[in-house]
Formats: sequence, C-alpha cells, structure tokens
Amino acid sequence: MITADIERLLRDTIGMNADSVSGSVIQFALKQRMAATQIAEPAAYWRLVTESRHELQELINAVVIPETWFFRDREAFAAMVRHVRANRRPGQPIRILSLPCSTGEEPYSAAMAMFDAGFSRLDFRVEGIDVSTRNIAEAERAVFGRNSFRGEDLAFRGRFCEAVPGGYRPIAAVREQVTFRAANLFDVAVPVAPESYDIVFCRNLLIYFDRTRQERALGRLRQLLAPGGMLLVGPAESSLPTLCGFVSARMPMAFAFLKQSAETVLRPEAVPPPRAKLPPRRSAPAVTRPIQRRRDIAPHLDAATDPAKTSLAAIERAANAGQLNEAKAAAGQHIDRFGPTADVYYLLGLAHDAAGEPALAIENYRKTLYLAPDHRETLAHLALLLQRQGDVTSAKMMNNRLARIEKRSRAP
Ligand SMILES: C[S@@+](CC[C@H](N)C(=O)[O-])C[C@H]1O[C@@H](n2cnc3c(N)ncnc32)[C@H](O)[C@@H]1O
Repeated sequence: MITADIERLLRDTIGMNADSVSGSVIQFALKQRMAATQIAEPAAYWRLVTESRHELQELINAVVIPETWFFRDREAFAAMVRHVRANRRPGQPIRILSLPCSTGEEPYSAAMAMFDAGFSRLDFRVEGIDVSTRNIAEAERAVFGRNSFRGEDLAFRGRFCEAVPGGYRPIAAVREQVTFRAANLFDVAVPVAPESYDIVFCRNLLIYFDRTRQERALGRLRQLLAPGGMLLVGPAESSLPTLCGFVSARMPMAFAFLKQSAETVLRPEAVPPPRAKLPPRRSAPAVTRPIQRRRDIAPHLDAATDPAKTSLAAIERAANAGQLNEAKAAAGQHIDRFGPTADVYYLLGLAHDAAGEPALAIENYRKTLYLAPDHRETLAHLALLLQRQGDVTSAKMMNNRLARIEKRSRAP
C-alpha cells in the first residue's frame, strides 16, 4: 500500500514514473529511508515524508539514478561548440545549462569543451541544476573516481584535471566556470528568467517521465532557452523534442535540437546541405549474411571515419532530419553492403519508432539486442515503446535489464 503512495508522491513531485525504473529501486529507497529514520511502521513513515520537506528531499536523494560520466555522448559537446560558434552574439557571454547535472561531470565537460574550442573564461558560464541535494554536494566537492571516466579517449583528464586523494578534480579554471544549485525541473517557483540559456543539456531525464510530464518538461525547457537555442537530449529521448516545438539540428549522434521560432536563424555551419535523394524505400531489410553475436559494440557511433561509419552517420542524419523513409532505405542498403550490425538495427528501430511503426520498431530493437545484449539505448527505447503499447510487463523486463547493466557498470 505505502509503495503505491510513495510512487504517486514521487511522480507528483519530481515526475518519476515508477514503470520507468525497476520496481526494486523505489522499494530499496523506501527501505533505506525507513531504516535511517528508525521507523518500522509504513504508515508512520508516510506521515513523516508527507509532513517533512527534509525527509521528502532525503527520499528523493535515495531514489534518483545519478548515472553519469565525463563527455558522455561526446558528439553532444561537439554540437554545442559548433552551435555557439555559429550563433555567437558579440559582447554577450554564452549561457549553458546542464539540467539535470547529477554529480557534475556533464557541466564540467561542457566547460572543458568550451576551453578546448578556444573560448576564454569571460566568454561563457555554465550552470548545473539537479533535484538531488546529495548530487549537488558531490558536484561541488568535485572529486571524481574511475566510474566518471569511461571510454578510451581520456586525454582531457590530463589537460583539465589534477590527481587528488580519492580521484581527480577539475582544475580551478574549469571549476570557476561552473555554478551549481539544487532545484526541481517541475518547481515553478524556481526563479529562472525566461530565455536565459543558449544551450540546455537535458539528458537522460525525460526517460523517467510519462508522456504528460515529458511534454511539461519540454515546455519548461523551451521557456528557458533563448530563441534559436540548442537543446541536447539523451539518445533514448531523441524522438521527443520534435513533438514539442523543437527541430532537429541535424548533427549525427548529438541528439541536438533547436528551439523553433520566427527569429531562429540557422547559419550554414549549423545545417549541412541537403543530402542527395536516396533510392526508394525497401519493404524490409534483407538479412543476407549470417548474424554474428557481438558483445563489444560501442554504445554510440563515433564521427564517421570509415565507409561503414559514414553510411551509419548518413542514416542517422536522415532520421534526425525527419527523412524517415530515406533513413530506412539507407539502412537496408547498409545491411546489404556491410552486413547486419547492432548499430544499423538500432537506427532502423529509431526510424520506425519515429515513423509511428511500433511493430517494426520493436522487431529492429530486438534484433539489436540479439547482437548487442547490453545496448543501453535500445533497452531504454524498447522499454518506452513497450510501455506506450501497454505491454507494461515487457517494459519492466527491459528496464530491469537496463538497471542490472547500470549496476554492473557502477560496481568497483
Ligand atoms: C541519469 S542522471 C543524468 C545526468 C546527466 N544529465 C547525464 O546524462 O549524464 C539523472 C538525474 O536527474 C535528476 N533528476 C530527476 N528528476 C529531476 C527533476 N524533476 N528535476 C531535476 N533533476 C532531476 C536526478 O537527481 C539525477 O541526478
């Protein structure tokens, strides 16, 4: 009984949809808080958490999923730099928001990327906001262990971090660019002037909301962004912004969108020239080569450097631009030429998903998972789609798989 009440409370305060996380996440947080407050009786805990703002905050701190790392989805930071270079207003500092910023890796990465791009400390500022006071305290402490540094290219750590007991800390020049504060995206009382930001990172948050709250959140993000400003979302959230007044920035694998408005001026650097039309759509991708099970798939595609990557980037670009039939046709050709891979089935799944073809999207997401069982973005997309289809049990199974993978990746 109390679990259902707590789920409702969390949905109403921070937007968390209980179906989007494994059931044990909320149960576990509840158990933890009841132990910490030495309350054995569920009804007594319910009274406390509904009467005490402090306890509600502690419950939120215990339940949120803080998973993050430096330069997560690297292309997003490259997209930010390209956008601000192309749309700079002389004399005005560039304003960047990371909401949610979790423990700070994302806003610090943004500051590092800006320095790397040649901007000076007076050219920009970065703000990090998160609903978890515990995460904000960690962000301000700014000591990061191994899990915050993933992937192979860690050269930025040598340039921008110093070794300290317990890990690495961004150097003072980086830390001074970033300010933090604890706030809830849904809290209308949070005083943020409208159109305050040129760039908003809101990544890996919308996946935890139901559709109504996703729309409310995107409405709020639109308010925060200056006209023509850029919104960056997570890979599993990339089908959402175009439903709420954003247009794709057409930057492959960046999951970047622009606030659509009369004043939006897209300079040539921001929008690649239109692609030549691809041949007509194939009805279904023919799997002409034996499928090999692969576990080591990179979760995100790097900028194209070889023919297969170039081809994947073209599919992604077409899908991002809303040219869904072309994306699907190009994916079919890709499979004929390079063979079936998790990456191409993932993109095909995304294209079918965005085209409102759930059965084909599910089929392709499942093919991705056959080839790359730990493909997190696919698990997240598939869970959302199954949930939208009303298949709550299968959606939960996908979310449980995702939670197990995230837990494994956090293990020391
Ligand atoms: C998975 S992390 C994402 C961090 C980072 N953006 C990234 O992609 O690496 C999700 C974060 O969202 C925060 N969060 C959840 N609900 C929120 C809300 N309503 N307002 C602000 N932050 C929220 C959580 O505290 C958590 O730190």
